[in-house]
Amino acid sequence: MTASQRLDWIASRGAPLQGEIGIPGDKSISHRAVMLAALADGTSHIDGFLEGADTRATAAIFAQMGVRIEAPSPSRRIVHGVGIDGLRAPAGVLDCGNAGTGMRLLSGLLAGQAFDSVLAGDASLSRRPMGRVIEPLSRMGARIEAEDGGLPPLRIRGGRRLHGIAFESPVASAQVKSAVLLAGLQAEGETSVREPHPTRDYTERMLSAFGADIEFSPGFARLRGGQRLRAVDIAVPADFSSAAFFIVAATLVPGSMLRLRAVGLNPRRTGLLAALRAMGADITEERHASHGGEPVADLVVRHASLHGIAVPEALVADMIDEFPILAVAAACAQGTTVVSGAAELRVKESDRIAAMADGLRAMGGQVETRPDGVRIEGGALRGGTIASLGDHRIAMAFAVAGQLARGDVAIADVANVATSFPGFDALARQAGFGLRAA
Ligand code: S3P
Repeated sequence: MTASQRLDWIASRGAPLQGEIGIPGDKSISHRAVMLAALADGTSHIDGFLEGADTRATAAIFAQMGVRIEAPSPSRRIVHGVGIDGLRAPAGVLDCGNAGTGMRLLSGLLAGQAFDSVLAGDASLSRRPMGRVIEPLSRMGARIEAEDGGLPPLRIRGGRRLHGIAFESPVASAQVKSAVLLAGLQAEGETSVREPHPTRDYTERMLSAFGADIEFSPGFARLRGGQRLRAVDIAVPADFSSAAFFIVAATLVPGSMLRLRAVGLNPRRTGLLAALRAMGADITEERHASHGGEPVADLVVRHASLHGIAVPEALVADMIDEFPILAVAAACAQGTTVVSGAAELRVKESDRIAAMADGLRAMGGQVETRPDGVRIEGGALRGGTIASLGDHRIAMAFAVAGQLARGDVAIADVANVATSFPGFDALARQAGFGLRAA
């Protein structure tokens, strides 16, 4: 299945979720692993690489720039790095597909290269704001042209001498931070980024693993330009954001008890666990371990009745990708759940505040929206027809909602689930979901 083929699902009540499942590799880490391995001197092995459309698009882009990448088996990559100055000018446009992470990180990485490049994406990515990376990169001396309103495609002029900046980011965005750091690696002098709220620090951790001298702490990072990277082997943990759909499904469906093996539990990603536990969820962590330097554990999820909460704003950045599935949990909880301080949800793969509100209302849910959040009254859901807007996380969230609804839930345009979670539907059926192609 490629993301370009049209696909719809019917979700309906299934069986209690039971057994033990493995979740594919982390999308954020897989993107970064390919990028840094390509820029490093020497050969890196990546284990647990996400075979998703987004991360494959990033790998294909480096192949276009002369990097040899072998795929000896699914979820493994051998990347023959060419060094920070060894990329070749691509012959054509670089297609990031649906991936905001791919485009934003690459804009920083390519701004310091000797050649011109063009980054483009699909219809959803073509509507996402790039001014947030163009602005700091321009201050570093980059030249990047975008469409009106700072939209893709991005035309990046090569051969610019970049200089370091001290950047106070107005948005809590790991993508913006990472773009500036990747440009900073190729800039003269020192580059630092300070964030309004700490975001995932995979770029910082991985630069350090590749031998870069980088100083970082929650909400802050600083590095010197002109450093070279050394190849390393990378083990990618299972993606918490993909696990989240099964965590909520097993919580909501009566009689469930599901084990998710070795899920990545980086504290900048697991805000949903704190929110669900505050709502009454029964999630235990077993077999704690470290996987490629990242904390992992098995999650054992048992059915529990949830009650609504006011989600603390301090958790928002740590669960930024989990609001679609949190909204489903809230719609099935007793009482009211309120989310605020989450305006970033408006500029994800879709406007996720609007998409969740419209979808839940189509199922009889009571939702009030605000510019930066929602208020959801829990209650019974009925069947309905949902527009996923081509957003993978909206599609998977409503597949979970379908397990609770009285009546079938038809979910339109789900092919983009393959961007982050290829095989979701088969795994969901194996666990007990009622889910089939329409
Ligand atoms: C990501 C950062 C987040 C997140 C996205 C992946 C990353 O985006 O929503 O799915 O890999 O850095 P923002 O940086 O725009 O918040």
